[in-house]
Amino acid sequence: MLMMAEKANNRYFQTMNIIRSFQDYTTQYKASIANPEDFWAAVANDFSWRKKWDKVLQWDFHKPEVKWFINGKLNITENCLDRHLPERANQTAIIWEPNHPQDESKYITYKELLEHVCRVANMLKAHGVQKGDRVCIYMPMIPETAYAMLACARIGAVHSVVFAGFSAGSLIDRINDAGCKLVLTADGAYRGDKTINLKGIVDEALEKCPTVEKVIVAERVNSKPALKAGRDFRWNEEISKASADCPAVETDAEDLLFILYTSGSTGKPKGMVHTCGGYMVYTNYTFRTAFQYQEGQVYWCTADVGWITGHSYIIYGPLSAGATTLMFEGIPSWPDWGRFWHVVEKHRVNIFYTAPTAIRSLEKAPLSFVKQYDLHSLKILGTVGEPINEEAWHWYHEHIGQKRCPVIDTWWQTETGGFMISPIASVTKLKPAFATLPLPGVQPAVMDEKGNELTTNEVEGRLAIKFPWPSMARTIYGDHQRFKETYFSTFPGKYFTGDGCRRDSDGYYRITGRVDDIIIVSGHNLGTAEIESAIDEHSAVCESAVVGYPHDIKGQGIYAFVICYDKPHEEENLRNEIREIVSKIIGPIAKPDKIQFVSGLPKTRSGKIMRRILRKVAEGDTTNLGDVTTLLDPGVVDEIKNGAL
Ligand code: WT7
Repeated sequence: MLMMAEKANNRYFQTMNIIRSFQDYTTQYKASIANPEDFWAAVANDFSWRKKWDKVLQWDFHKPEVKWFINGKLNITENCLDRHLPERANQTAIIWEPNHPQDESKYITYKELLEHVCRVANMLKAHGVQKGDRVCIYMPMIPETAYAMLACARIGAVHSVVFAGFSAGSLIDRINDAGCKLVLTADGAYRGDKTINLKGIVDEALEKCPTVEKVIVAERVNSKPALKAGRDFRWNEEISKASADCPAVETDAEDLLFILYTSGSTGKPKGMVHTCGGYMVYTNYTFRTAFQYQEGQVYWCTADVGWITGHSYIIYGPLSAGATTLMFEGIPSWPDWGRFWHVVEKHRVNIFYTAPTAIRSLEKAPLSFVKQYDLHSLKILGTVGEPINEEAWHWYHEHIGQKRCPVIDTWWQTETGGFMISPIASVTKLKPAFATLPLPGVQPAVMDEKGNELTTNEVEGRLAIKFPWPSMARTIYGDHQRFKETYFSTFPGKYFTGDGCRRDSDGYYRITGRVDDIIIVSGHNLGTAEIESAIDEHSAVCESAVVGYPHDIKGQGIYAFVICYDKPHEEENLRNEIREIVSKIIGPIAKPDKIQFVSGLPKTRSGKIMRRILRKVAEGDTTNLGDVTTLLDPGVVDEIKNGAL
């Protein structure tokens, strides 16, 4: 059986890179550390390159500079599409499940996908998009969005996907930072029983986006939005003029593939830059390895393509591996809490990958929503986005995986491009709430506060990575200095993840959460500074400080301490206004759950807010606030404690 599976899984990929036992893992992990260049060259050899690289790796974490597959030439869409055609032209590449369960699913074969991608690529070219140009994709979870990303890649344009739940303000920042020339959007998006007016948000944003020349609007909700003459075009009309044949443009391994924004600890989002060669090799390798993907399986990642999870593990990883990837437009709670399980049954999903926040809310719904569906097709489960608590892990393992399916807790980041610390399904012995062991090529280090590496087991500290891996972000778009400061200055010579972690007696890693000013709300990464500056936009607000606190469903909730110029009369009204402003500037996901009005904030003499204290108050633990003697005005702490919500 194993032989057959291996053979079937190996149309493109050599056995030497495939891990089927823990022994394989240990051997390959060692080899990947002893000789990283040989290891990754062997993996990369299985792809279709226009020209192979001259050198595998060049790096210096002090500069920082990282380059993989130097002078290698390729086009990632040839690897995701063209090369599959001899073997699997008629295999389904994308199963699309619409928001409304009564609407028809779509099954897009590899051959059809290539044609769609070529049409969109030709449409972009007809509207002046060239290699290196940035294209903003602000679209719902519809097949056109996948076509759009791949179409950019086909012609060497750089996509910047902005999650369609972001507001006009966030869209403006992202479009302007990347200098996008064209925006791809839709008339609207469905989200359960709601419709979001995407085109309206784009119109509002574009008043402040001078670089955008054209907008192409896909039809999804049939809202017939007004089009601005000369600027806006209808997708269907433009696509009907485009041919289904578009040669792939040759890109360098280090050419930009995409920019994806993630929150930073200053208000400004960071445009993480990913490049073609290393990203392709690593997302493909980690997809095949961690999920143990087998030929013919149906794989479903519930993330939105607006996040890195969607980029790496709905689109590029699965498609480059010739997988069948399911793209879901809807939400887990509509029309009822059984929707995910209905979709699993309907499409006989084998591998299911979701976020702890989704699991926690699904867990709260009656179990009958799970039990009415046949989940026998499931073989492997995955989670990502934040630490998964043991309870949620067990519920997922028992009720969804029926105790047969390994749960793969994948730790990684927008910056890492792909899985870093993760079990390999059916290979790594699991431990609930542990991301377990580093994948081949990944060299983690646990650091203490002084910057020393803790080399033994049973230690706790900050997580850094000592050696480059192929899909690491290369820079922050337009701000290499910030890239250096954010990731390579805390522990010189190492990449700092921003996460805390524990390594136990088995050498297993448990990620304990962020140690910086980033909070993770329902798996979405938000910078406290970004939320604070949105709150401060309210004319009554003088200053604010935001921290995360434990939240049953969302993982972390947002707690805002707000100083107003005058003592507010109508506190509840003001709270609502503040929430509205945040929703408008960043998006509904960033609305504070709790807002406490205060007369001052605990600040050090140098003016830095002591978030440690605010975090304690937000957690409801006011008995032990630690040392407050370095505060400018220790009196303010009592007031804050007494007014805690
Ligand atoms: C941060 C990265 C990676 C795609 C989704 C989020 C946290 C992510 C795990 C996990 C514990 C996790 C970390 C990380 N995180 N996965 N399995 N266990 N924490 O991407 O928005 O870039 O966020 O999410 O804190 O640094 P992101």
